[in-house]
Amino acid sequence: MIAQGGNGVDDLNNVASEVARMAGGEPNAPDARNLSDRDIADIAAYYDSLPKARTAPARYDETSAPALVRVGDPLRNIAPCIACHGGTDHKLGAPWLEGMPKEYLVVQLKDFKGGMRRNDSHGQMRNMTRQMSSTEIEQVADFYARRSTAGEGR
Ligand code: HEC
Repeated sequence: MIAQGGNGVDDLNNVASEVARMAGGEPNAPDARNLSDRDIADIAAYYDSLPKARTAPARYDETSAPALVRVGDPLRNIAPCIACHGGTDHKLGAPWLEGMPKEYLVVQLKDFKGGMRRNDSHGQMRNMTRQMSSTEIEQVADFYARRSTAGEGR
């Protein structure tokens, strides 16, 4: 079941672990190397304070969503994003993606694909993104990033 907005702690842990990874000096994130633990905690708290999942999560029958989000691609072993990130199901540890900045999403997906980000415990994200083209990565990132504004009642 999906508890709307109820996974703040999950999200926070996720952002904190990701920021900590970058601070560790991964080659693609040189700017984060000088962050103190305090900075890291502040950044994580900031991201956690951002609105999440204000819109209903993407659904399988929502035709404006990219096919990979709704149904995945079984022939390439790509499970639908909504099977873990909210929609049809929400797996423990899989953060809400709605409203995350597009640039952030693209970088994370490319890092999973290239194996620079390895903190997905069963390699789920790495295995899937390896099968995805750059265009597909752009499309799903764009879709999730745009969903925040859709739900803000403007
Ligand atoms: C089988 C379950 C599963 C599926 C399917 C899945 N993900 Fe994930 N994803 C996860 C988990 C678990 C994490 C958290 C990994 C970690 O601990 O860092 C994650 C992390 C992410 C992140 C990093 C978020 C952050 O806060 O840094 C992005 C971006 C992402 N997934 C995008 C996608 C997209 C786009 C799809 C569909 C193409 C997708 N995922 C499909 C399980 C899944």
